[in-house]
Amino acid sequence: MLPTINPTSTAAWRALQQHYQTAHTLSISELFTANPERFSEFSRQHGDLLVDMSKNIVTAETWNLLLDLAREVNLPEAIQAMFKGDPINQTEGRAVLHTALRNFSGAPVMAEGTDVMPGVRAVQDQMKQFASRIHSGEWKGYTGKPIRYIVNIGIGGSDLGPLMVTEALKPYWQPNIQPYFVSNVDGTHIAETLKKVNPEETLFLIASKTFTTQETMTNAHTARDWFLKAAGNEKFVAGHFVALSTNEKEVVKFGIDKENMFVFWDWVGGRYSLWSAIGLSIVLTIGYDNFEALLKGAFDLDQHFRNSELNQNIPVLLALTGLWYTNFFGTQTEAILPYDQYLHRFAAYFQQGNMESNGKSVDRAGNPLQYSSGPIIWGEPGTNGQHAFYQLIHQGTPVIPCDFIAPAISHNPIGDHHMKLLSNFFAQTEALMNGKSADEARAELVKAGTAAEAVEKLVPFKVFTGNRPTNSILVKSITPFTLGQLIALYEHKIFVQGVIWNIFSFDQWGVELGKQLANKILPELKGDEAITGHDGSTNGLINAYKRMRT
Ligand code: F6P
Repeated sequence: MLPTINPTSTAAWRALQQHYQTAHTLSISELFTANPERFSEFSRQHGDLLVDMSKNIVTAETWNLLLDLAREVNLPEAIQAMFKGDPINQTEGRAVLHTALRNFSGAPVMAEGTDVMPGVRAVQDQMKQFASRIHSGEWKGYTGKPIRYIVNIGIGGSDLGPLMVTEALKPYWQPNIQPYFVSNVDGTHIAETLKKVNPEETLFLIASKTFTTQETMTNAHTARDWFLKAAGNEKFVAGHFVALSTNEKEVVKFGIDKENMFVFWDWVGGRYSLWSAIGLSIVLTIGYDNFEALLKGAFDLDQHFRNSELNQNIPVLLALTGLWYTNFFGTQTEAILPYDQYLHRFAAYFQQGNMESNGKSVDRAGNPLQYSSGPIIWGEPGTNGQHAFYQLIHQGTPVIPCDFIAPAISHNPIGDHHMKLLSNFFAQTEALMNGKSADEARAELVKAGTAAEAVEKLVPFKVFTGNRPTNSILVKSITPFTLGQLIALYEHKIFVQGVIWNIFSFDQWGVELGKQLANKILPELKGDEAITGHDGSTNGLINAYKRMRT
């Protein structure tokens, strides 16, 4: 059980409110001038991972008070409760054990009195054997050809994680395997994907924890019909469809052999499931050894999270620093900005990871929150973002804390591309911190020969207030291991914030209402009769659609 401590009732929260009165006027650049050791004091290194948090509006006192807050809400106990399998997903009565999927300690992990590790290892072994049969060409399609195309059909956590990881690890792709991901129920997604593959050489992975998700089941049936149209016989389905799921009954009902099912368990949250059987598309794309290295990277970060002192604990410090802005500065969004093209789905992945986890407004005792919880997460790779939305980050009214992420070594060391990329990374964090004063703007205009009266008119628009907070995360290079570390780092940050906000981070009731109403509306779309059972706008839209579709 997690404690139900209202963070605002703690002494640390009150001290932070007090501290904010002066701290919010601090200038990060002046803090650097005053303290030459600031970079090392506010950075943490873990293996090949450097996390620089020094460009934040924080002092040692800020971090100390935030750490007091973490202690007052019993964060250390909550961390241990998660790792040891307590049913901390209380609204669903489940443990939260994605960490068991990457547990290489040899120690048992108990959920409801049973060690989950033998089951975890058995499925990992099944995935490994299966991948070796696919890669060696031993597993053949219905015309005797080896499998070349993998189509993962899933949505949310059954899509975004494997998609993000396979894209991030493209340099590790197996030869002769091309993965595709279909998620949207919009028929265009499956239609366009099926144009790129052929039934003889395609393996469909139906990835769904529940095996009842409308989008996934609709796409799965369409894929099956498409396949059968070519193969002509149900007996060939077994060689081309496998299921990744917790729901054996529904898998069998769909027509997939139990033999071709890769199971996982209800203690694996959908958005934390890439480490489970849901990762089969990863295994098939990059090979089992690389998948294992990904798990080992995450395990390494898990140990850091579980065993480090709070003030050395990187996910904890990132979480606390983020919370400082959300709850005291009133920021509402955070940007994740990878300076690595292969990480182009990283922000999208953690958009679900964070917003589905911490997008809650009721505390663990069932009361409405009187303070902000989960921020809006968004982002795109640099430098594309610089030419799109950074304007607002630099000069807009909202303050947007940003995470910059980059590898020191590129997988594609072409000319000076990587140095140019990184010079942008460093320059952006510097510019966001230092800004540009009116005097500097004026001097630049004068130097450029601008007429005197134009100078004064232009100065206000050329000023950058600066003091915009950033974290900088540098890794030596993006490998399966360091990617595993990075993902686990963000997962644990989300966990820490959820614990402090006194919310349940591992349910997602908020996605249900839309699903229920869509199921109610679907049959109403079939006939031509006018619909009157909804509000005026919804009736109007449905009836307009019915007129427009003919
Ligand atoms: O969007 C809600 C959700 O339950 C996510 O949490 C999950 O990742 C996604 O749907 C897919 O669910 P399933 O794997 O059961 O198809």
